[in-house]
Amino acid sequence: MRWLVTGGVGFIGYHVSRALLTRGDEVSIADDFSDAPYPRAEKLRNERDLRAEFPSVTIARACVTDREAMAPLVAGCHGVLHLAGLAGVRPSFREPARYSRVNIEGSATMLELARAAGCNRFVFASSSSVYGNSTPLPAREDAPCVVPESPYAASKRAAELVTAAIGQIAREMPITALRFFTVYGPRQRPEMAITLFMRAVLAGRPITLFGDGSMRRDFTHVSDIAAGVLAAMDRAPAGFRAYNLGSGAPVTLRELVDQLERAASRRAVIEPANVPAGDVDATFADISRARDELGWTPKVALADGLETVRDWVSAHP
Ligand SMILES: NC(=O)c1ccc[n+]([C@@H]2O[C@H](COP(=O)([O-])OP(=O)(O)OC[C@H]3O[C@@H](n4cnc5c(N)ncnc54)[C@H](O)[C@@H]3O)[C@@H](O)[C@H]2O)c1
Repeated sequence: MRWLVTGGVGFIGYHVSRALLTRGDEVSIADDFSDAPYPRAEKLRNERDLRAEFPSVTIARACVTDREAMAPLVAGCHGVLHLAGLAGVRPSFREPARYSRVNIEGSATMLELARAAGCNRFVFASSSSVYGNSTPLPAREDAPCVVPESPYAASKRAAELVTAAIGQIAREMPITALRFFTVYGPRQRPEMAITLFMRAVLAGRPITLFGDGSMRRDFTHVSDIAAGVLAAMDRAPAGFRAYNLGSGAPVTLRELVDQLERAASRRAVIEPANVPAGDVDATFADISRARDELGWTPKVALADGLETVRDWVSAHP
């Protein structure tokens, strides 16, 4: 099996590429190594570590909206795993046009190229944010998802709708949207809560907690996400299909801080702040579809997962 992984030197892309290479698949990565939404240095570290562990991996610098650059990279691949994208709810309010271009046009471009090259699957990163605040919880994949709370959420939902529409005429091809629920673990994007909090707590700095701490998040360890992505690549059916990949066990931010303090063996100093625009009240995945159709279940409990972050952050101050 040979896969093109877009965004393969990003946080989730690194872990998924590593999982594919470990099981013996061939991986070719395309990533633009941009500074958004966090410094390029983290992506260069992921590139260096992948090359050191797997000399066979090929890594190219290319943008997902650049058809000419991407076409030769897609050629000869069994499938495209499209994880590249602009992540993050808050920055999407500052650059909605850029988010739309990369996340919507980039997804449509990669699917077009995958079809033209005769690939027989297309799996891509969507997000729990498509559910917004109006979906009954736990969120099910058949919910309408028509009230996005941010340009980021809208761009992910739009990418789903465009690829689903293409799926109407490409019925033999699995086109699989994976709705990731707040992913954490080693190499997590540095601006995301768990890594940000762990770094601060270990260094004795205060952490900013939004609202009264009652917001709930369905935190999912990146090793479970990588296993879910591989399960979707191997087993998702033909046609467009969306799957939730979440823990199915949401916790409040207060509970998160308690568990984080235990993992860090330190008390957190909390500075309260208003909830930023675009942040939803709660995320909570119904994971029965992924369990029944992909044979996937998450395995890492939050307490254990936080220890992997503590170890990573301690080793990479
Ligand atoms: N981390 C999460 O909790 C989470 C949750 C839901 C969805 N997602 C989605 O999963 C995917 C991976 O997320 P992540 O957390 O690993 O983020 P990330 O930023 O670490 O990874 C995304 C990668 O895409 C690359 N990229 C960005 N724009 C590109 C472009 N125009 N062309 C080529 N490459 C480009 C980046 O350089 C980066 O390496 C994203 O699509 C994100 O929206 C992530």
